Amino acid sequence: MKNVKYKLYSNEPTELKEDCYIMALESSCDETACAIVKNGREVISNVVASQIKTHEKFGGVIPEIAAREHLEAVNVVIDEAFKQAKEKINLQPQDITAFAATAGPGLVGCLLVGLNAAKTLALTYDKPFIGINHLNAHICANYIDTELKPPFMALLVSGGHTQIIDVKSYAEQTILGETIDDAVGEAYDKVARLIGLPYPGGPKLDKLAQIGNPSAYKLPEGKVDGYNFSFSGLKTAVLRLVKSIQKQLNTETLPSETINDICASFQETVSSTLVKKLKKALHERNYTQVVIAGGVAANSEIRKKVFALEAEGYKVYAPAMKYCTDNAAMAASCAFFNTNCYNDVNIEVFSRVK
Ligand code: KG4
Ligand code: ZN
Repeated sequence: MKNVKYKLYSNEPTELKEDCYIMALESSCDETACAIVKNGREVISNVVASQIKTHEKFGGVIPEIAAREHLEAVNVVIDEAFKQAKEKINLQPQDITAFAATAGPGLVGCLLVGLNAAKTLALTYDKPFIGINHLNAHICANYIDTELKPPFMALLVSGGHTQIIDVKSYAEQTILGETIDDAVGEAYDKVARLIGLPYPGGPKLDKLAQIGNPSAYKLPEGKVDGYNFSFSGLKTAVLRLVKSIQKQLNTETLPSETINDICASFQETVSSTLVKKLKKALHERNYTQVVIAGGVAANSEIRKKVFALEAEGYKVYAPAMKYCTDNAAMAASCAFFNTNCYNDVNIEVFSRVK
């Protein structure tokens, strides 16, 4: 396996001598995914094996069980991705330009499965290996099927992170602000659990919010300076609200309309907080392009509020739903554009951003 052979781009590769096919693996949490992407933007194959069914009964992801499931699924998703590529464009494993895998942040035992599988493929086919930063990969989901080019402002909202990022070029980014406690996805999942919704709560809460009244309850916005966020106070406020309604009605079980109204009020507070700070950052940097990324970018109200910025003259990008939550196509795109990649076979997995 060659250490540094693959040319990493940090600008738009306008004059590619030949097409570049990157196969990537993603296994940072509870999805085992494999994808092949041509020239950073065209998805040739995209396979995702979800572990939701397994973790549902525990109400959250159990890292040890997740790692074992990745081991069982990894060869299956690789075979399927190669099968799709062969059927579609007769692409063979030896035609792959480079192999990539998420190196972190994520669950270490889970990351190791994808990373070692991709390194093994690189070794077998004598191709370069590229380690991927999962957060940057989420942002790169916006390059798929679009002509988006930096600079732009990004709102990254996932299960573990909430950040406003100034993306100056493919490789150059500055985090302007982030959550000081819970990530948005984490807040969604915790609030969903306390109103009795099954894991993963975020999408379910979003669904109920759409039929509830967003002004039924006044919930507090986290008051933090600059571009930082805080969502733990909001989560506690929902807990207090639920307890007081239960006391008032003298029952543990809340009426379904009440649950819908709590969901809608929570969603309204979260989405308006996020968009307020995003707008502030856009004004300050004078950018005309804005993207959202991460699992929570699938949220109906956040998408609606961010897309409403188009009426103010901004060009808004959001990944297709299947590229919002964890997938490997975004990792392959990230490897192509060299968005803070590790072009080194010795890169090891990491649980947090150093
Ligand atoms: O990006 P992702 O797939 O994994 C991480 O890297 O964390 O994000 C998963 C998170 C979970 O917290 C999930 O509940 C949340 O995204 N999520 C949503 C929606 N779809 C996924 N949260 C709110 N509304 C949604 N529609
Ligand atoms: Zn993710």
